[in-house]
Amino acid sequence: MREQLYSLKEQALTDLQPQDSLQAINDWKVKYLGKKGELTAILRGMGALSAEERPVVGQLVNDVRDALELAYGEKEAEFKKAERNKRLAEEAIDVSLPGRAISVGSEHPLNQLIRDIEDIFLGLGFTVVEGPEVEYDYFNFEAMNVPKNHPARDMQDTFYITEELLMRTQTSPVQARVMGAKSAEARANGQEHPDPIRIISPGRVYRRDDDDATHSHAFMQIEGLVVDRNIRMSDLKGTLLTFARQIFGESVQVRLRPSYFPFTEPSTEVDATCHNCGGTGCRTCKGTGWIEILGAGMVHPSVLELAGYDPTVFSGFAFGMGVERTAMRRYGIEDIRGFYQNDVRLMQNFKSRM
Ligand code: PHE
Repeated sequence: MREQLYSLKEQALTDLQPQDSLQAINDWKVKYLGKKGELTAILRGMGALSAEERPVVGQLVNDVRDALELAYGEKEAEFKKAERNKRLAEEAIDVSLPGRAISVGSEHPLNQLIRDIEDIFLGLGFTVVEGPEVEYDYFNFEAMNVPKNHPARDMQDTFYITEELLMRTQTSPVQARVMGAKSAEARANGQEHPDPIRIISPGRVYRRDDDDATHSHAFMQIEGLVVDRNIRMSDLKGTLLTFARQIFGESVQVRLRPSYFPFTEPSTEVDATCHNCGGTGCRTCKGTGWIEILGAGMVHPSVLELAGYDPTVFSGFAFGMGVERTAMRRYGIEDIRGFYQNDVRLMQNFKSRM
């Protein structure tokens, strides 16, 4: 039986050497060490041994099994290592390859323009304030010198929430809100007069309009308001000229045309020389050389008074411009609806500025 065990060990070890895969050594293990394997077969014959011989041979069987398992373990480790190295080589990442670019969105052109305009006015000492889009009739109209039944209301029909609450038709109510807040503050502090004001206010406004290439029922405006002692029309013109030159270029001229707004007196329409032809006349400016950029005027004394500013002490100017119209001109967009359709093909043109 000893002979049998020794030769089994020799044969098994010799047999293991040429095996060249995990699968092959597993077959080998089953053949020699498995339940139906050759070592187990020898073990079964132990019943025939004497009581003295049995522990000795038992020990020998264990030694042979240990030797075979050790040999198997070494071989297995070899294969596993080779397999892992192969996988590592296959899965290696070339960190020197350029990455795949992620497509980054861009700020909406209207917001870009608003930010640029804010920057210009911040540079002139203005601060930026915002007002609510759902507004009281009082601030949107009455405080702006448009009482109930005033004919000027027809030009700015809008969406009503209740009799007294509406979607604001203009950013001008922010004027009344800011002046009202300042004079309340002054009263609370026991000041004789409220503080001067220099603000701009961008935001969305609403009108009952049929949407087409140049109209939208919701659009953006930027309001401007300056109230102080001795504010004159020349301050308005100088401020708007400075603004127009920064937005449209240094060679731009502005002109004021008489106009009418209920909350300014006198009122004016402000034109800038056509950015396309420089003022000589072309298709863009319909041959006039000028393009209207905003409405403005000197704050009406009634508006000052209603908001708690003494019109014999204070004067001011205000302006309101349409953001879309300015953006259409600046970016050469011909249909206002392009701003609202979220078409990435259009928006992608404004990426560089992020
Ligand atoms: N609120 C006016 C409009 O929407 C524009 C404007 C603002 C005119 C301030 C004068 C002064 O048409």
